[in-house]
Formats: sequence, C-alpha cells, structure tokens
Amino acid sequence: MEEKKIIFSGIQPTGVFTLGNYLGAVRNWGKLQEDYRSIFCVVDLHALTVRQVPKDLRHQTYQAYALLLACGIDPEKALVFVQSHVAGHAELSWILNNYTYFGELSRMTQFKDKSSKHEDNINAGLFDYPVLMAADILLYQTDLVPIGADQKQHLELARDIANRFNNAYSPTFVVPDGYFSKSGARVKSLQEPTKKMSKSDTNEKSYILLLDPPNVIRKKIRSAVTDSDAKVAYDPENKAGVSNLMEIYQAITGDSFEEIEGKFEGQGYGVFKDAVADVIIGELEPIQKRYEELMNDKKGLEAIMKEHAEMANRMAIRTLRKVKKKIGLVQV
Ligand code: TRP
Repeated sequence: MEEKKIIFSGIQPTGVFTLGNYLGAVRNWGKLQEDYRSIFCVVDLHALTVRQVPKDLRHQTYQAYALLLACGIDPEKALVFVQSHVAGHAELSWILNNYTYFGELSRMTQFKDKSSKHEDNINAGLFDYPVLMAADILLYQTDLVPIGADQKQHLELARDIANRFNNAYSPTFVVPDGYFSKSGARVKSLQEPTKKMSKSDTNEKSYILLLDPPNVIRKKIRSAVTDSDAKVAYDPENKAGVSNLMEIYQAITGDSFEEIEGKFEGQGYGVFKDAVADVIIGELEPIQKRYEELMNDKKGLEAIMKEHAEMANRMAIRTLRKVKKKIGLVQV
C-alpha cells in the first residue's frame, strides 16, 4: 500500500484568484499532487462569514473550482471538492467547538481584523471560522497544510485542538504541520510593493487577476510602481517595485535574478515591463482557455464535483465515526 502523506488546503470562493494566489500557492498545489495524497477544497462555508450575494457566491464557487482545475490540479490525481458538499465539515466543527476556548478564538488576529472591517456583522460564524478550518484539516487526517503566513495562527489552533482531543480520549487525529514551500513566490502589490498582492485591495491596478485579458495585464504592469534609477536590479529593500516585477518574471521563467539583470542591462523599465507582461500573458493564456472550456460545460464540472464529494465524504465519515464513538454519541 502506498504511504503518501496527506496534504490539505482550502481556498475561499470570493472572486478570481490573483497572480499572487497563483504563483504563491495554487500553481504549487498542482505539483504536490505527484508526491502527496492531495486534497483541495473550495471553502464556501467559510465565505459565509461575511455577507455574500447568493448568485455571486454560486458563480464564484464554480469559478474557483474551474480555476483550480485550469491551474493544473488534476482530478485524476488529487481530490478537489466543495466544502458544503461534505456534511462532515459542519458536523465535526460543531463537535470541536466544545474543545475550543472562547479566549483562544478571541486572540485570533484575523478575527480582530475582520471584525473591525465588518463592524455591522460580527457574527458567530466569523468568530468560529478557525474551528471550521480545524475541522477541514482534521477530518482528513492531514499531515501537511500548505498555507501562507496569515493562516499560521489558525493552523496552530488546529494543532492545539487536535492535541487536546487526543489527550482527553486517545489518539484520534493526526496533528498537522504547516507546509511552507520554497518555490512559492511572494508577489506584492503593483502599486504598493511592500504589501502583499490582494484581490481585496481597493485599487484594481495593484493586482492581476488570472482572468484579466492581455491588454489589461499589460496596462497594469506598465503602470506598476518602480523608481527613478532605471536599472533592473534585485534589491527588495530599496527597489521594491522593480524587485517585485523581477520576482514575477523569475517565478514564471525560472531565470535567476542575475540572469534577468543581465538580460535587461542598459534597457529602460519600459522594455522590462513589456517583457514581464509578455511572460504573464503567455503563462495565463492556456489557463484562461481551459477555464472557459470548463465553465462552458457546467454539467461536466458538476459531475466531477459530485464524484469528488462522494470520495471526500467516505474519508470524512471514517474520522467522524471514530470521534463520535470516543465522545459517547450513539451511532446506529
Ligand atoms: N482560511 C484559509 C484562508 O483564508 C482557507 C482555508 C479554509 C484553509 N480551510 C482551510 C486553508 C484548511 C488550509 C486548510 O486562506
């Protein structure tokens, strides 16, 4: 029997992924599926913690799912499903609530951030978000969780909950570790290159979306903030804007920073920016094409969703049965 480690990650269906999501995370997920038992989840229940327009959420869920496949996650190799299709997430989340303290959840920085951004809707789901995330992870006996720095605190909590449960009863959950890939690029905002590229940024020129058409990509790259010394050189501290563009170029072409510096020596930023736009456009073209094909066949997409939800459900039920038995719930 194969003994591949289990990797689990989730992404919210809250809009088209950015180039940052792609180069920093999703593209690498496609590579993990070769070496790990990979599970990727479109976490629609998490998206409910801030108010969503129902028809947009529905569209974005198909969209996120299609984008994952278009970015190289292969349903023959990885498990890809929608969170709400597997009832066990909500169920385990309720059980784990009883092993999570109010104080712990109050200390979550993302909760504090989000509650200050949505003061009119500080709901119980927002508070409980990390427990649902713990349930996602623990349900599949996950070994490794690829996450960005902003999710470290949530993963730490998932580990604490797992240990607490295991100690109170007997070993039940695998205690997951974070997976921090070396190859993931940290793409910054094109307008404020000290900040992370984010689709929630109010300035549209600060990010590139995976479905942006070529002319929009070129425009956004051309208007990216640089500096006045007109030299393509990697120096994230003093030349954050240019370094960010180099980072993107490097992530796509595989060229080293020295190679990039050599290639564009003596040339202005205009030439370099056009080259950056070209490689982005070239990278995204097949993804956009595949995305269109998938979205034009919703029935086909739904068939994959359904099959994968059933497979995920079978894994989830195994963990849930153990949990219920240990805590004294009657199962018939
Ligand atoms: N909270 C994560 C984010 O916003 C998404 C997520 C939900 C997740 N469940 C997960 C990530 C489980 C990893 C594992 O990025």
